[in-house]
Amino acid sequence: MFTTAQSNVPSNQSSALNLPEDLFGAIEDLKKEMNAVILAHYYQDPDIQDIADYLGDSLGLAQQAAGTEADVIVFAGVHFMAETAKILNPAKLVLLPDLDAGCSLADSCPADAFADFKRQHPDHLVISYINCTAEIKALSDIICTSANAVKIVQQVPVDQPIIFAPDRNLGRYVMEQAGREMVLWDGSCMVHEVFSEKKLLELKVQHPKAEIIAHPECEVPILQHADYIGSTTALLNYCQRSEATEFIVATESGILHQMQKAAPAKRFIPAPPIANCACNECPHMRLNTLEKVYLAMRNRGPEIVMPEATRVAALRPIERMLEMS
Ligand code: 13P
Ligand code: SF4
Repeated sequence: MFTTAQSNVPSNQSSALNLPEDLFGAIEDLKKEMNAVILAHYYQDPDIQDIADYLGDSLGLAQQAAGTEADVIVFAGVHFMAETAKILNPAKLVLLPDLDAGCSLADSCPADAFADFKRQHPDHLVISYINCTAEIKALSDIICTSANAVKIVQQVPVDQPIIFAPDRNLGRYVMEQAGREMVLWDGSCMVHEVFSEKKLLELKVQHPKAEIIAHPECEVPILQHADYIGSTTALLNYCQRSEATEFIVATESGILHQMQKAAPAKRFIPAPPIANCACNECPHMRLNTLEKVYLAMRNRGPEIVMPEATRVAALRPIERMLEMS
């Protein structure tokens, strides 16, 4: 099913780790032996996307995690995503190929400071974006993702004040779409803040027919030029149904692999970052590699663990999200 992937670990390290020649084949064998499922986010390296049993946005991944019958979940994504899978599946082994694969947005909302913030707004319902730690989920009433945030906020009675955390950019976008005020936590994603409005407009002059499509974690100067705004899955679906043949894509560049596969005749151009850097690649997501996926399966670790009290408190708001989606 897959072509042979040679390990890209230097050969001296590769032999020390005893990596197989054909990583794709070895991972496929381990999947069967372990009854494992590989869930991957679109921001992962193309090789990881190609080996995944399910590839999706944060909502799709949470739904898959909630419904899987596998004994082992290999989560090719970041820590909060694997943690969500563990919250939903306490009896399963949940593996994260690199335990350091965190998230700048989740880091921008520490639990102690957020508990204080909540105390300052005692009558507020707390809706938290899934890009947060289990501790923040445990302090929340409902979880949402970029795919369902507007729909969830619209289901809350209009006289109920809301705290929205941790992403101020998604929060602002949801306020505009749902037509209601919310108290926003001042967090953001380092990847979605790197895009340059000036360079975007210069690129648009070179490609006048290109549509600009953007993730709602981007800031207003980028979103105001977007022809379409949505979650990663929504962006992928949109570029297939749109009649445009060129797209400038303002989100993490890993998604371009699927866009190009889904619409090979169309052209996808990553939106340019302010600096001349690859900072539109999430440094956390990209810590995972095919080698680490293989090693995590072979070693049955690193695994996600958390205190049971935190897990139980974090479960209810995730279940509410799944019911309201
Ligand atoms: P979605 O998966 O909801 O599109 O969000 C993107 C993201 O930043 C995940 O970390
Ligand atoms: Fe977090 Fe942003 Fe990376 Fe997503 S892209 S994992 S929100 S830092």
